[in-house]
Amino acid sequence: MADDRDRTEQLTDDERKRRSFLRKVMWSSAGLVLAESALAGLALFWPRKVEGFGSTIRAGRIQDFEIGSVTRFRDGKFYLSRLPEGFIALYWKCPHLGCTVPWEPSRGQFACPCHGSIYERTGQNVAGPAPRPLDYMEIQIRGDEIWVNTGAIFERRVHLDEHVTRV
Ligand code: FES
Repeated sequence: MADDRDRTEQLTDDERKRRSFLRKVMWSSAGLVLAESALAGLALFWPRKVEGFGSTIRAGRIQDFEIGSVTRFRDGKFYLSRLPEGFIALYWKCPHLGCTVPWEPSRGQFACPCHGSIYERTGQNVAGPAPRPLDYMEIQIRGDEIWVNTGAIFERRVHLDEHVTRV
């Protein structure tokens, strides 16, 4: 009789432990789901790292560019033109109908393959149907480094010295 009572008390203790364990598992799972949801929600508001076109891109050091050089930056969709007085970053989109304008080193000009607009290394249009020079982008000089803000693109009616960032 006493053995039966002990077994009953023992079973009750085991049952209590099992229930306690299951409760802990349930609350832990619920906590985990809540934490995951909160992290997913926060991720929506976390600023994403922006690279390439639209961001500010390091072009290189001032001394890396010879005077007269025109360097293509594929990710930023621009050319960095090294002029005697400084730099100009030219958006490679033709202001006529939007074709990508290649640099022609042998001619020392940009020549649009679509309708034949021609631009000087400053971006100034000199022939063809283009209504204005190539647009230019903001340049920032940080120490001896050149950074180009491909999110800051400016139109102009004619090329002016003030469009060149002096170094
Ligand atoms: S798109 Fe370049 S000349 Fe027409």
